[in-house]
Amino acid sequence: MCGLVGYIGQKSVSDVLVQLLERLEYRGYDSAGIALNENGKLILEKSQGLLVNLCNKIENKHFSATSGIGHTRWATHGKPNERNAHPHISENGQVALVHNGIIENYNKLKNELKDIKFISETDTEVVVQLLGKYITKKSDENHILQQIARVCEMIKGSYAFAIMVAHIPNKIFFAKKGSPLIIGCGKGENFLASDIPALLPFTNNIIYVKDGEMGEISAEQIKIFDFKLKQKNNIIKKINLSPEQVMLGNYSTFMEKEIAQGSYAMQNTLEHIIKDRTFYKIKKTKFQDLSMMSSNIHIVACGTALHAGMLAKYVLEKECRVGVSLDYASEFRYKKPLINKKSICIFISQSGETADTIASLELAKKCGAYCVAITNVITSRISSLADFVIPTYAGPEIAVASTKAYVAQITALYALIEFVAKLNNKKIKYNSNDIFGVVKTVENWSAKLLWHDLIKDICTKESIYFVGRGVDFYLVKEGALKLTEISYIHAEAFAGGELKHGSLALINEEAIVIVLLTQKDLIDKTLNAIAEIKTRGATVILISQFEYLKNCAQHFILLPKVKDILMPFVAIKPLQELAFLCAKEKNLNPDKPRNLAKSVTVE
Ligand code: AGP
Repeated sequence: MCGLVGYIGQKSVSDVLVQLLERLEYRGYDSAGIALNENGKLILEKSQGLLVNLCNKIENKHFSATSGIGHTRWATHGKPNERNAHPHISENGQVALVHNGIIENYNKLKNELKDIKFISETDTEVVVQLLGKYITKKSDENHILQQIARVCEMIKGSYAFAIMVAHIPNKIFFAKKGSPLIIGCGKGENFLASDIPALLPFTNNIIYVKDGEMGEISAEQIKIFDFKLKQKNNIIKKINLSPEQVMLGNYSTFMEKEIAQGSYAMQNTLEHIIKDRTFYKIKKTKFQDLSMMSSNIHIVACGTALHAGMLAKYVLEKECRVGVSLDYASEFRYKKPLINKKSICIFISQSGETADTIASLELAKKCGAYCVAITNVITSRISSLADFVIPTYAGPEIAVASTKAYVAQITALYALIEFVAKLNNKKIKYNSNDIFGVVKTVENWSAKLLWHDLIKDICTKESIYFVGRGVDFYLVKEGALKLTEISYIHAEAFAGGELKHGSLALINEEAIVIVLLTQKDLIDKTLNAIAEIKTRGATVILISQFEYLKNCAQHFILLPKVKDILMPFVAIKPLQELAFLCAKEKNLNPDKPRNLAKSVTVE
């Protein structure tokens, strides 16, 4: 969580920091702040809430500084207020710091600083106070680096730091372990950031700082060291992304743009898998014998990524007759999972940064399992830890609610299932060409207008229920999460056959139930569920490609028809659009839902 930035160059630093932070706001938006070095004095400006509040605060202030650091926060330790906002400054005013991550032993470290009056409730402040204690006005650059390394060695937890020292205005220092940090290399200027989107308008030349690395940037130079202060080579990579890819363009929100990009995410992911011969280097022996694979495949993820995993488990079991176990990463990491050297563990994560998923991967590796990562960020920690990476090519996903990344994840999973089937001479109901065939259907169709008359009603409800069977159950689970996440309407998904085992008690004349029905072999059973719901007087909105079922519910949304097994690619879109439209109707910003942030880098 949290986004951090740093700039050193010739430009007015406050403007640049704000521009950098704007593109990292998806990482947290509880508060924002900057620290500037004005002629050897560290100046802090902070504001509670969105970055726009900080912009308003500094609008008429004129700074001459050309170096500074900035932060946009998702609160973990301490309320989301101005006092707890980053940057933090040492009591003696010598050091300012921004942090992404968690300092687990901050209470213990505080004992070293009994004479210091702490201002905030954050875990971070202890780091800046320690640095303030060790770095004096006389410290040269080398001594400062030594003290940063010293403090890093004392810390338990994860961090990316950008650090400024008052009497060294021409340098910004940094250190990283466990949280993302990149350096943008410009001409006569250099940058620090948590993620690539921040830097794209300024430079495409990036250095990925690795765990256990630290260093300094000036306008002209970048120096990277390990914690023993041994200098490392600067490996600059050119990023093949344009600033437009992380801008709104003709859309008013990223979520709307990203839903529309679902078809692109499908096509791009599949094209890459084929062109890059992605499965060429996978350990084939692991996937060759279905009887061995059964009960040895584990899918682990969180949130939307887990919903993609649920769908894959269902399809893999149904098509390849392979047993798959599935876990929330937060559960897997603490349950002593039944895995060993024969196991294949598949970790799905858009960001590749999710703390629970990373911890689960580390655990699986310890147990000797073969770890496959499906991620949208090739340079992420999950990618670097996994034995094999299947990249998704959805492009940067900015909105907190994951949409196009989900579509890319199920594309990669379907491709993996096809590969497993081929390897085992198993005939399945689709191939990659069929998936390519669905791309245009997804691109050209939208349910936005079809929802039009229903949205107002839905938004009056405190709870909305979803029902589905088979793959449709996993899709409505994702639909319910999306609706909850951005419109704050309580939404729950039920397996059609389970209604009468309890949840039917919730259904009355007031209830709206959204039923998804895309599988021919489950029509009769799902119609039973609809009948049970209607009998209780509830309103049913049926979403289906079977037009003849139109009159089975009070409202009907007709889906375009593709092979049943590929219907998830189509059916997810109206569910994502429903969530988006409800957020809009309620005047909520779907890109920045309350209390949430894009990547959950803490437990
Ligand atoms: C999705 O809309 C959510 N914001 C969330 O559930 C997300 O999918 C989850 O936190 C996992 O993130 P990851 O894919 O980056 O690991």
